Amino acid sequence: MCIKRTMASIISDCTERFRQKLFGKTGGISEKTLQMHLGLYAIQVRRAKELLSALEKGDSPKENQIDGSLFRARKLDLSYCLSAAKSHELYFSILGGAGGAPQGTLREWIDRDFGSFDSFLRDLRTTALASESWAWTCLDQASGRLLNLLGDGSVTVPFWGAAPLLAIDMEDHAFILDFGWDRAAYLDSVLAQIDWESVARFLPLV
Ligand SMILES: [Fe+2]
Repeated sequence: MCIKRTMASIISDCTERFRQKLFGKTGGISEKTLQMHLGLYAIQVRRAKELLSALEKGDSPKENQIDGSLFRARKLDLSYCLSAAKSHELYFSILGGAGGAPQGTLREWIDRDFGSFDSFLRDLRTTALASESWAWTCLDQASGRLLNLLGDGSVTVPFWGAAPLLAIDMEDHAFILDFGWDRAAYLDSVLAQIDWESVARFLPLV
């Protein structure tokens, strides 16, 4: 028998798992910043679940009714909450590592697509500093090529089929308490603690 899953099952609150993984392991990013940042993520997950439940219950106005704007607003808000929460999950997943350089398939693909790991890091660093919100390393599933991309705002996501492997949060709340306006110092701290084994887990099985 097929048991229908709820729409809200698309996302779960992983705050506790990230807290256990990250506290004491994020260098210049303080526990105070992490606590605040995880709280923001938890709100995004809760809001996404509330929106999904409301949409599934069907208590939205019918299409073409004048109050259809509420339905539209919920759908737009849902995209924002899911995009923001999932980028945060990726960001928290790749923090708290030893930095350095990746090994294995990920390193081979970086060298293949960027020429060298140093070239990749330079491009990722420049991309992140040019962003007002998110920077991602993505795998284009059609060509199999890696790209560094940015998005200003959580709903500005890469193109279809670009699977993110790594996310860097460049919004003010990620660094202002610990680094002031020195975005470069914050970014250096992130790059020095990337958990490359976690990044590699997002690669497809080959
Ligand atoms: Fe954030």
